[in-house]
Amino acid sequence: MDWGLKNRLSRIIRPDGRTVMLAVDHGYFLGPTTGLEDAKGTIGPLLPYADALMPARGIVRTSVDASTDTPLVLRVSGGNSILGELSDEGITVAMEDAMRLNVSAVALSIYVGAPNQKETLLNLSRLVDEGHRYGIPVLAVTAVGKDMARDARYLALCCRIAAELGAHFVKTYYCEGFEKVVKTCPVPLVMAGGKKLPELDALELTHNAIQRGAAGVDMGRNIFQAEDPVAMIQAVNAIVHKNVTPKKAYELYKGLKRQKKGAKRR
Ligand code: 5RP
Repeated sequence: MDWGLKNRLSRIIRPDGRTVMLAVDHGYFLGPTTGLEDAKGTIGPLLPYADALMPARGIVRTSVDASTDTPLVLRVSGGNSILGELSDEGITVAMEDAMRLNVSAVALSIYVGAPNQKETLLNLSRLVDEGHRYGIPVLAVTAVGKDMARDARYLALCCRIAAELGAHFVKTYYCEGFEKVVKTCPVPLVMAGGKKLPELDALELTHNAIQRGAAGVDMGRNIFQAEDPVAMIQAVNAIVHKNVTPKKAYELYKGLKRQKKGAKRR
């Protein structure tokens, strides 16, 4: 692997082999998602606790402090919306613009088994070629179309295809038999959070994924839609980087939340 590419990847996946990525790219096909209506207000306080931030470029330029040290994993696929065929995605950002934004990686979705499977896989291949030209790693997001199962057989298929086509790391959902998905994927795999769960359940999900070999999480709604997002990202971080149990992480979450409430009252 080229030195520059390796260096950028090492800013995202920390020396312990783990990462807490904060996904805030939902608006690229969902519009003003709950919790991200004021993207700047949501992202700012969370940034110091994220190993990497995953936004689309409009949000980088409008809502992310340019003095941040947090590496960017830029969403570069889109062209679809929740009102249309989800798999109908193309590449939305030129690599030159990604470089101008000083990204540490680019991310695009692949839709295996969906109407535009071939286009999204060829987009990935093209992006990997460009990534190698400029030393930029590529994250493949194994997106799941409306009617697709999220089981180990399907997710392992998606992750392996992504890795075979050259993705440098892969994002996928947790499922029963997740260890099989991890074991058959030769590049680091981060878990997508999915829909908002009660905080303890989201911490258990994180713990399960890490125990079964994930390199970390790329989590959005379970962080920024939590009652206290800043406390939640710290609790997730404690599981990912310090191997604490979900119960301990939940205690940390509740403690941090209480402290903030106390400080507000004073
Ligand atoms: C959509 C994405 C999003 O970044 C991701 O799914 C959002 O994170 P979460 O599901 O945890 O809210 O890649 O394809």
